[in-house]
Amino acid sequence: MELSNVEQHALWNGAAGAHRLSNPDQDDAEVFALRPRLREAAAIAPGETVLDVGCGTGTLLKRARRDGHRGRLVGLDPGAGMLAVAREDPSVEWVSGALGPGAYDGEFDLVTMTGHAFQELRTDEKILATLRGMRDAIRPEGRVAFETRNPGAKAWESWDGTSFDVAYQGGTVTIRYEVRKVEGELVTFAEITDGGRWHDQVEVGTLRFLPRIELDRFLAEAGLQVETFYGDWDRGPLTEDSPEIICLARSTI
Ligand SMILES: C[S@@+](CC[C@H](N)C(=O)[O-])C[C@H]1O[C@@H](n2cnc3c(N)ncnc32)[C@H](O)[C@@H]1O
Repeated sequence: MELSNVEQHALWNGAAGAHRLSNPDQDDAEVFALRPRLREAAAIAPGETVLDVGCGTGTLLKRARRDGHRGRLVGLDPGAGMLAVAREDPSVEWVSGALGPGAYDGEFDLVTMTGHAFQELRTDEKILATLRGMRDAIRPEGRVAFETRNPGAKAWESWDGTSFDVAYQGGTVTIRYEVRKVEGELVTFAEITDGGRWHDQVEVGTLRFLPRIELDRFLAEAGLQVETFYGDWDRGPLTEDSPEIICLARSTI
């Protein structure tokens, strides 16, 4: 099943997105811990130009700027609600949309896609268009860095039935996850928000878990050559069931 863009954006702009947007610190706490390692792995230097594809609320680039990054930073995302929050920092260029071939022409030292945003690319066409856009966007010696969950680790099996509470406007909101369907590489799950102004509000999303062998094929087709694959955030090797596929690549052209 392919969700329309409207449905997919609703996932991020709806109830669950709203609590994230109003709890940026919690968002930081949950996911930011991973990002310095990607930044470290990608060896970002302070003056480099960086494009963050699927930047969401812009946590990565805002943090980079706060940490003293001096170079040009561009964040791209099709989600209006996310981007509205990102735009609070005018020192970064925020662009609405998805990446495609020729969108940028050799302007960046590094193009990233973090927070598993890559898994939002559910069709072969979107994956290829994004990877080609990345290749076009980097300088001849530039790098691409992104991560996607390794299907071999079957992360979704541990998601089903999990829940957590978040503080929201003086009360508590419970978020719980249910896996609705596993169909080939596509995992459809529901995020159910209960509490505050939401009563069992259901947002359904689908993520693609792309096997490494297919990723290799898409990268080659897009003109990108893998420099390193890591299987976890401690730079462990990529194995059949390592949790992540962390990919650092360069242009072959
Ligand atoms: C899990 S969030 C990650 C956001 C951010 N990178 C982070 O780490 O906080 C996934 C993001 O991917 C974006 N997205 C969805 N489809 C996309 C596409 N075709 N191209 C780029 N980004 C997309 C969503 O709008 C959302 O902001």
